[in-house]
Amino acid sequence: MLNIVLFGPPGSGKGTQSEKIIRKYNLVHISTGDLLREEVKNQTELGNKAKEIMDRGELVPDDIVIGMIRKKLVEHAGGPGFIFDGFPRTVEQARELRKALTDLDERVAVMISLEVPREELVKRLLKRGVETGRSDDNLQTINNRIDVYNRQTLPVTRYYGKMRKHRTVDGIGTVDRIFDRIVAVIDNLN
Ligand code: AP5
Ligand code: MG
Repeated sequence: MLNIVLFGPPGSGKGTQSEKIIRKYNLVHISTGDLLREEVKNQTELGNKAKEIMDRGELVPDDIVIGMIRKKLVEHAGGPGFIFDGFPRTVEQARELRKALTDLDERVAVMISLEVPREELVKRLLKRGVETGRSDDNLQTINNRIDVYNRQTLPVTRYYGKMRKHRTVDGIGTVDRIFDRIVAVIDNLN
């Protein structure tokens, strides 16, 4: 399997690029944000718990997220592989992902970080907030999401860095240009 962690701050283009990557490499897309928004929409017990946390821009507890991931891994085990979008977001989640993949005799091949400056992130997310009404795309929550990313999520890059699996990609430019940069990284693995 080809298992890729697509990493980066809120608004860096993880969702946008994942759509293109899954088509080219035939991977299964797992976005914990999308899975959580689905739970919120369906007003499940999990969704009702997560909604307030997401609207503040904080992280949902690790055990909830890991439970969702484990379920997806088992569903699609033995397939061509996964693209993890917005997960792992804490070192604990990264450790748990490793365990879950090891149970399937699998591993993460690479972590690709999309690098985009803060002003551009805020600009993109405010625009999407106006266009789609996503409830966490307002200035206060956007700023908190970026702060939470810097504080709690960035350390995950060191976790993969120690295993020499961390690569960075310039996330500024057209969607197609950025995609080409990502493809170059993937096609140069080993
Ligand atoms: P999540 O849904 O993961 O949101 P996020 O990380 O804040 O990131 P976004 O989805 O906003 O951005 P993106 O990088 O996918 O960019 P996109 O392609 O959409 O998480 C939401 C919440 O759920 C979290 O705050 C947390 O509460 C909870 N959560 C989720 N996962 C969790 C976990 N693992 N643990 C704990 N809690 C978790 O692009 C953004 C915009 O920019 C779009 O409008 C797009 O059209 C535009 N755009 C994309 N590329 C470009 C480009 N090249 N140029 C110009 N505009 C562009
Ligand atoms: Mg996204």
